[in-house]
Amino acid sequence: MAKILDGKALAAIVKQEVKEEIAGLGIVPGLAVVIVGDDAASRVYVNNKKRDCVDCGIKGEEFALAADAGQERLLELIHELNARPDIHGILVQMPLPRGFCEQSVIAAIAPEKDVDAFTMENVGRIMNGDYELAPCTPAGVMAILDHYGIDPAGKHCVVVGRSNIVGKPMAMLLLHRHATVTICHSRTPNLSEITRQADILVSAVGKIGLITADMVKPEAIVVDVAINRNTDTGKLCGDVDFEGVRAVASHITPVPGGVGPMTRAVLMQNTLIAARRC
Ligand code: GUN
Repeated sequence: MAKILDGKALAAIVKQEVKEEIAGLGIVPGLAVVIVGDDAASRVYVNNKKRDCVDCGIKGEEFALAADAGQERLLELIHELNARPDIHGILVQMPLPRGFCEQSVIAAIAPEKDVDAFTMENVGRIMNGDYELAPCTPAGVMAILDHYGIDPAGKHCVVVGRSNIVGKPMAMLLLHRHATVTICHSRTPNLSEITRQADILVSAVGKIGLITADMVKPEAIVVDVAINRNTDTGKLCGDVDFEGVRAVASHITPVPGGVGPMTRAVLMQNTLIAARRC
């Protein structure tokens, strides 16, 4: 039976460390959290992030725009936040409603305040292995692996999903740690043939039941990044058939309580990094 990789417990440790460092910083870090529209999942994520800010001693300020506010208003807001000295980090919750251009919005964020590491400058830095700000979810996965003494060096890591937010940067962070990395996606034929080769399998697709026990090599480490809502039970779950895979893997992250809390803990770390640099 696989050992549970407890992201919730680790997030509490990381947040405590951030809180203690902030106490000695001499300034209060400010994080602007921008939400556009009324997506229910985004609302939950934003509320959780604001709560984390309170826990850590960060001034989290929410900026809520209506779904029809328009791209120009959003860009204007970002420019205002870029210019504010009391705001050290800016996060625009994704996805944006229809009609917004996410790439242009990201491009408007000052790279030094880009606590998601989504801007071209920060993406380029990650590509080159020269970065302080790493995207929160992949960095959260790396922190979980490190905490449990799992070294990716020399391991075959298979990342399922190629999003800019998770899949692609996840592959880069693993590569920088000397893993052999394969990225799979919706057009990968024979997905299970490849996932079965993984020493570390990271799934970031958003499809319930995608990863079943027969797709996992015995004693593999399985990291489930997805957060899906099961419409039958109303409960949160990932991509991985947790009970089935648990019987095969050596380590597994649960959903909820795995990667999700670490994503938010890294956001707090990144806000501290951004505040320290000013
Ligand atoms: N939507 C889903 N994950 C993320 C994230 O890490 N950052 C932002 N800004 N939006 C998201």
